[in-house]
Amino acid sequence: MGAMHEEINSILHLMAGIEEISYGRRTYYTGTINNIKTVVVFSRWGKVAAATTVTSLITKFNITDLIFIGVAGAINTELKIGDVVIGDRLVQHDMDARPLMPRHEIPLLGVTYFESDPNYITIAKKAIDAIVGDHVHSFIDEYEIERFLLRKTRVFTGTIASGDQFFAKQADKELLHAVLPDTLCVEMEGAAVAQVCYEYEIPFVVLRIISDECNENSSIDFPDFIQNVSSKYAYEIIKNMFALL
Ligand code: ADE
Repeated sequence: MGAMHEEINSILHLMAGIEEISYGRRTYYTGTINNIKTVVVFSRWGKVAAATTVTSLITKFNITDLIFIGVAGAINTELKIGDVVIGDRLVQHDMDARPLMPRHEIPLLGVTYFESDPNYITIAKKAIDAIVGDHVHSFIDEYEIERFLLRKTRVFTGTIASGDQFFAKQADKELLHAVLPDTLCVEMEGAAVAQVCYEYEIPFVVLRIISDECNENSSIDFPDFIQNVSSKYAYEIIKNMFALL
């Protein structure tokens, strides 16, 4: 399972029998959630960091399934801060081996979009339906609800784009929308994680909480959102998902 420090800490509250293992500059937490053996780790930022973390999860910790949770910037203008995206397919927006292959196609794999596991998509949808809309009042402070306008949050299922770039300009957002118009949101790890899971045949799902709208406000909204909002979302979503497994 992957997420940021604040999100990791809140997810660890769901875990029993925690043991810490340091490996390759990461801390892996092993234990159980609802009696299911689980490993929790912060992937770190960017495609390389996330890919190596997932490779360790698979080859050293022998995971059989993977849930990735974190935040993303909205590309589709229907999405607002506090909405949640279930990535049913993931694409690397910065992969470009033209003219040798089509833009965004992963060399040698011949794959452009990596697909999340349909069963986990169904479970995630149920888990997230129970925390969006009016449910937000049960786990987020009113101050944060006002500050980030979290009154009418929704869940979306669709394409997530990943690449080694933080989007903080309206013009960059429009460029990405023009090349990959189906993209709901953008982040820096999901499609790398998805590629490794595809190669090792590990069923996975990528879940993203919208932290910003990929514009000039993105870097301002980001830290406060991670600290006070997305870590609580992550806790609720993982709790609800494990109750359905
Ligand atoms: N993750 C969260 N917000 C992001 C943004 N604006 N660009 C890339 N990754 C993000």
